[in-house]
Amino acid sequence: MMPTPTQLAALDAADPLAHARARFRLPPGVIYLDGNSLGPLPAALPERLAQTVAGEWGDGLIRSWNDAGWIDLPVTLGAAIAPLVGAEPAAVVACDSVSLNLFKLASAALALRPGRRTILMEASDFPTDAYVMQGLARLAGVTLKRVPRAELVTALDADVALLLLSHAHYVTAEVHDMAAMSAAAHAVGALTLWDLSHSAGALVVQLDADGIDFAVGCGYKFLNGGPGAPAFAYLARRHWETALPALTGWMGHAAPFDFAADFAPAAGARRLLTGTPPILAMRALEAGVATFADIDIAQAEAKSRQLVALFAAGAATLPGVTVDAPPQGRHGAHVIIRHPEARRVMTALIARGVIGDMRPPDAMRFGFPALTTRFADVGTALAALQAVLDSGEWQEERFAPRGMVS
Ligand SMILES: Cc1ncc(COP(=O)(O)O)c(C=O)c1O
Repeated sequence: MMPTPTQLAALDAADPLAHARARFRLPPGVIYLDGNSLGPLPAALPERLAQTVAGEWGDGLIRSWNDAGWIDLPVTLGAAIAPLVGAEPAAVVACDSVSLNLFKLASAALALRPGRRTILMEASDFPTDAYVMQGLARLAGVTLKRVPRAELVTALDADVALLLLSHAHYVTAEVHDMAAMSAAAHAVGALTLWDLSHSAGALVVQLDADGIDFAVGCGYKFLNGGPGAPAFAYLARRHWETALPALTGWMGHAAPFDFAADFAPAAGARRLLTGTPPILAMRALEAGVATFADIDIAQAEAKSRQLVALFAAGAATLPGVTVDAPPQGRHGAHVIIRHPEARRVMTALIARGVIGDMRPPDAMRFGFPALTTRFADVGTALAALQAVLDSGEWQEERFAPRGMVS
C-alpha cells in the first residue's frame, strides 16, 4: 500500500527523533537514502576540523599529541562509541579499517584456540570479511569454511576456532541473534567475532551482555564519521590479558615511547592499535559519534524499521520492481528493491534527487537511518521512483552505466 502524505506528516509530527536531523548538513532538494553506506555531514564537523587543523596542529604543533589528547584519541573515541554497542568504555578502540580489524581479531582468536583448524563464516557475507579470512587462513594454515545461514549451527564443531558473523546482513538486512549464536559457538569451545558495520548506530547491540568475544564496526556508515573514517574494534574484558593479534605495532605497545626492542602488549583493548592514529579523521569521527548524544538506539531501530516497512509496502505497488520482503522481527535499516536494470534506474533516481545505492546485478538498496530520514522522505522517494518507472526515462542514453555507482 502506498503511504499517504497525511499519514507520513502525522508520523513526522509524532517522531521523538525528528530533532536529530538538525545535527546534520544535508543539501537542499536531496532525499538521502544512503546513510547506511556513507553517513551525511554532521553540522558541527567542519568547524571542529577547522579548529583541529588551525589550533591543534597549526598552533599546537607536536605539543598537541599531549595537550590536545591526540595520543589517547583511539581510546577516548572508542569509549564514546562503546555505549552505542553495549560495551564498557575501555573495551573499544577506534582504529584502522574494518578489514584490518577483522584480521587482527581473527588472528588473535586463532592464537587463543591452538589446535583448532577452522574459521567458520556465512557464505554470503560481505566480501572483505571473506577476503581477509582467506588471507589469514593461507597464512595460518587453517581452513575457511563458508556455509549458508541455515547451516551455521550444525557446522559448529570441535575444530572451529572462530565463528565470524555480521550482525545485520549487508544485503538481506537479516539480523542474527547475537546471544544465541555466541552461546552456540561457545558450547563447542569456539570464539565469536562480529561485524557490526550495518548495526553500530542503527540497531541495539549488547556486546558485553551477549557474551561476545570480539567485534568490529564501521565509522563512515551510521556513525557519520566521513568517507574512509576509522573503524572500531571491541575486545571483551576476559581477553584483555591474553588476546594477541598477529598484526602488532608500536601504538599497541605497553610503552611506545620507550622504543623497546621487543613488543609488549598494552593493557586491554589498546593492544589492538598498530600505527599512528589519523588525527584529522579521528576528530571527524568524533563529531559523527557526537550526533548520537542523548539518542535512544532502541528508538532509532524502531523508527528505521517503520520507515523500511512503509517504503517496502509502497514500492511493492509499483510496476516493474520486486521488493525483497523485510525480514520478520528485527532487521537492518535498509531494504532491497529489484529491477533488471537496477543501475540505470538508480542513476535516473539520483538525477531526480533521491540517492540510494545498488548492488549488481539487480539490487537497489535504500537505507533509512533514523537520525536523518523523515517519514515524508519515504513518500517523496516513492513518488520519484514511480516517476522514473512510469516515464521509462531510465532507458535513455544519459542513464547508461559508466564508471562506478557505489
Ligand atoms: C559488512 C561490511 N563489512 C566491512 C565493510 C568495509 O570494510 P572496510 O572499512 O575495511 O572498507 C563493509 C562496507 O560496506 C561492510 O558492509
